[in-house]
Amino acid sequence: MIQELPRPVLKGKKALIAGIANEYSIAYGCASAFRELGAELAITYLNEKARPHVEPLAQKLDAPIFVPLNVMEPGELEAVFARIEREWGELDILVHSIAFAPKEDLQGGLLDCSAEGFAKAMDVSCHSFIRMAKLAAPLMKDGGCMFAMSYHGAQKVVPNYNVMGPVKAALEASCRYLAYELGPQKIRVHAISPGPLKTRAASGLKDFDLLLNEAVSRAPVGELVDIMDVGFACAYLATPYARRITGETMYVDGGVNIMG
Ligand SMILES: NC(=O)c1ccc[n+]([C@@H]2O[C@H](COP(=O)([O-])OP(=O)(O)OC[C@H]3O[C@@H](n4cnc5c(N)ncnc54)[C@H](O)[C@@H]3O)[C@@H](O)[C@H]2O)c1
Repeated sequence: MIQELPRPVLKGKKALIAGIANEYSIAYGCASAFRELGAELAITYLNEKARPHVEPLAQKLDAPIFVPLNVMEPGELEAVFARIEREWGELDILVHSIAFAPKEDLQGGLLDCSAEGFAKAMDVSCHSFIRMAKLAAPLMKDGGCMFAMSYHGAQKVVPNYNVMGPVKAALEASCRYLAYELGPQKIRVHAISPGPLKTRAASGLKDFDLLLNEAVSRAPVGELVDIMDVGFACAYLATPYARRITGETMYVDGGVNIMG
């Protein structure tokens, strides 16, 4: 039996959200949904250039922790978790909504992807989640839930997704292995696979508008998803209603992925 739950259902939960660049970011949808359901937020921004775009959003969501995080900068990830430990002493929810590949490697086919470009894309978009999970787990003293953003190009070939296909495949597999390793600590781990959304990261993909048009015409629900759809899917998975669901790749795509 699930004990009686607070209202709103995530009241008092502590969530770290990494990956807000602006109001269109998927991470902002996650942060907004968690906040609406009562969670307190720690929000990161990439660097000083990004800060003015993210700070008003963090303020709007009353985030008590607002810290820089470039996962390529040695020590920054550790500093984020040290701050969380100092201020909260615990963590319940982690969202990794970060991806990067050098433009020349992203926009060419996989055959032309350089070793450096591949390694960088894998480090920022996949291994940084593993590093985060390692730092977050000891703070999830009563269990918790971790999310990483994937895409259907991990499972099937999506033209122009290129190097990000194998990178997201590794991310989804990492979520399963982390779910296995962290399960005994009551920490659940999910990959979330949103349908295409017009964000800054997406603008780096060639012919992204075609992908949007195709998604809307193929989706059984007949509509594109928005960032709040993704946020509320994560919020549900973070509640005790989903306490025995882990290691999933959860599609939030209006059903596009079921189509042949
Ligand atoms: N937009 C889509 O169609 C779509 C679909 C499925 C999955 N995704 C995934 O969702 C996630 C979020 O992307 P988005 O579409 O919201 O775009 P976005 O541009 O709003 O977010 C990407 C974020 O990654 C961050 N980032 C890049 N390099 C970083 C680094 N070194 N350290 C820390 N942060 C770094 C950026 O600062 C930015 O906040 C990504 O993993 C992306 O692959 C996007």
